[in-house]
Amino acid sequence: MRTALRLGLSLAFAAALAGSAVAATVMGEAQAPKDVSFSFEGPFGTYDRAALQRGFQVYNEVCKNCHSLNLVSFAALTEPGGPEFTDAEAKAIAASYQIPADPNKQGQTYDDKGNRLTRPGILADHFPPPFPNEEAARATFNGALPPDLSVIVKAREGGPQYVYSILTGFGQNPPKGFTVVDGKYFNPYFAGWNISMPPPLADGAVTYTDGTKATLDQEAHDVVTFLTWAAEPKMEQRKRLGFEVLVFLTVLAGLLYLSYRRVWKDAH
Ligand code: HEC
Repeated sequence: MRTALRLGLSLAFAAALAGSAVAATVMGEAQAPKDVSFSFEGPFGTYDRAALQRGFQVYNEVCKNCHSLNLVSFAALTEPGGPEFTDAEAKAIAASYQIPADPNKQGQTYDDKGNRLTRPGILADHFPPPFPNEEAARATFNGALPPDLSVIVKAREGGPQYVYSILTGFGQNPPKGFTVVDGKYFNPYFAGWNISMPPPLADGAVTYTDGTKATLDQEAHDVVTFLTWAAEPKMEQRKRLGFEVLVFLTVLAGLLYLSYRRVWKDAH
């Protein structure tokens, strides 16, 4: 009985091993994300402030042309725990974006040529989408939709490592027998391996204002840091509170123990 069980177990184990070996070579199955580390990992991890500001620069100069960031306001860029731009910097960033305007005195939201009327952004505005609607976005990319990036890091299995791998996963030769669809790009970290996003980053895609060398890996690492903050802007506060609660409970437990001893001292 024992041996039969053991045999069964080892067979199952061998099958699982074989299964995973096969899985790695199945055409179109997304490769496991790269093992890259970030400052915000772990119970005490915080966002690297400079990386957040550089990551914003990458979003602002590259990604915003195709991806919205609906849930993030310009004011959030100034808040503690984020990129912490000054008010003046954030106001200038907001003003560099055009926001769909409210109806004018004549009640119009479009001009005579059919263009949407806009106004410069203010701190209270959220990042405006690059396309007027989903249809317009899809029409630009052969039916594919560039997803909103506000919570993409939380929305995808693999989180920051996944997004980093997608951004740095271009430029490899597809294996023999795999066809890259016309108008798409080979990226083994993306399910199906055919992605409709053209490689957005390259060495020198931006010129960092803080003088950091803008390699492809650096840009990807920075923009992923920024997008992780966008998805969880209160992470630092959350971790700090968790730590404080633990300290409080430890002290409380100690005090309770001492009072227990005192209360029962004479009763023994
Ligand atoms: C030229 C337009 C364009 C630019 C610029 C661009 N993207 Fe994309 N992106 C797309 C499109 C289109 C898709 C949808 C791909 C698909 O579904 O095949 C996409 C998809 C994605 C995905 C989702 C992958 C998934 O799992 O669904 C992520 C993450 C992403 N882009 C991040 C970025 C980041 C970060 C930047 C800036 C560094 C950026 N993109 C710049 C067009 C763009």
